[in-house]
Amino acid sequence: MSCSLVLGAQWGDEGKGKVVDLFTEEADVVVRFSGGHNAGHTVVIKGEKYILHLIPSGIMHDGKVNIIGNGVVIDPEALIEEINDLKARGISFEGRFFVSKRAHLIMPYHKIFDKHSEAKKGSKKIGTTGRGIGPSYADKMARVGLRVCDLYDEEVLKEKVFQNVEEVNLIAERIHGLEPLNPQEVFESYKKYGEIIKPYVAETSYMINKLYNEGKNIMLEGAQGTLLDVDHGTYPFVTSSNPTAGGAFTGTGLAPQSLNNVVGVLKAYTTRVGSGPFPTELEDETGQRLRDVGGEYGATTGRPRRCGWLDLVATKYAKMLSGINYIALTKLDVLTGFDKIKVCVGYEYNGKVFETFPPEIKILENLTPVYKEFDGWTEDITKVKRYNDLPENAKKYVEFIKNELGVEYALISLGTDREETIILNKVF
Ligand code: IMP
Repeated sequence: MSCSLVLGAQWGDEGKGKVVDLFTEEADVVVRFSGGHNAGHTVVIKGEKYILHLIPSGIMHDGKVNIIGNGVVIDPEALIEEINDLKARGISFEGRFFVSKRAHLIMPYHKIFDKHSEAKKGSKKIGTTGRGIGPSYADKMARVGLRVCDLYDEEVLKEKVFQNVEEVNLIAERIHGLEPLNPQEVFESYKKYGEIIKPYVAETSYMINKLYNEGKNIMLEGAQGTLLDVDHGTYPFVTSSNPTAGGAFTGTGLAPQSLNNVVGVLKAYTTRVGSGPFPTELEDETGQRLRDVGGEYGATTGRPRRCGWLDLVATKYAKMLSGINYIALTKLDVLTGFDKIKVCVGYEYNGKVFETFPPEIKILENLTPVYKEFDGWTEDITKVKRYNDLPENAKKYVEFIKNELGVEYALISLGTDREETIILNKVF
């Protein structure tokens, strides 16, 4: 019996899909605990690419159980589409895919308000994925949200839909000048969605605990990343959930003592999509080169990602917040061919150097990173299978990160394919 959490140590897009997919070999159950279909987890199997948004990456492995926990917000239309797409590609769901009855729903008005509020903010926009994530979590906290279980009580569903739609129509029309929604249509479409996903709906908190107590290996699959955490990230330029370790417990119903390992997925450099501070961002040709070589375009929205050097101040913060004990270092191959590689080891602001991640956006936007510089390497490393066969300069870079963080590597990823990986430690 073992439980491992895999989470993003940066601003998302660290390559969690591949890491989860690899560790799933040893797992029996894979659980998503936060976020929604704002995530885009890319898995490449035998040269074929799959992008998962809401469904746990473990679905790609026959016989593994996959669960969407209560902490996830679900757009049922998007879920059904994803299920149908994967089924059409030969993936089976029967008896091994479950959705929490307690998970909150993304409603049509959440998507409308998400897009509208971004458009209104102009240059101050957060750069959300526009999928209704923030408004859905806001309703959850305001205690007016609809949950998956509401889809199966017609009276409750109708009452809540009518109440909410009538309320949001007032705001939509009077304040924002938007078209009103028809509550009856929303009710009918959600009733229909409910029927379609009914075979998968379950009391997943009990289910996960039962599986754990039966001795199964549980993998908790994080979405987004530490610095997008609504509590600990670069607020307000964050998502609306907790992608850090705390969210894994509230979002599944598992108790903290269940957790054995926390794997922080760390890209060998840094990227971020959307707005907000990014201390090590490179808005020059080095940044463009990272974007081109790393294929840094959003898996969900196709947006070009902002690129920069690895930031160890931010990574140490991520380690502290979630108790990361293993690192999965990804995309090391993208750094091949760079003459010099830099790593941020401190922040300088107003003449002071410090090593903590500040909450103030103004400081984050105006600080100067303190860098340590490494010599690069030119050898193709994508086919390297053993750590010792990496070029000396690559090893120096990788060792430095490990020593600074004081953690072991679970793996080092050298390409998109499963084969292009050096596995160093098992997490189950
Ligand atoms: P939201 O989650 O759609 O509300 O977007 C809030 C912020 O989180 C925006 O900056 C998004 O670009 C970012 N974000 C959300 N999901 C992901 C993800 O899976 N990877 C990277 N960034 C994300």
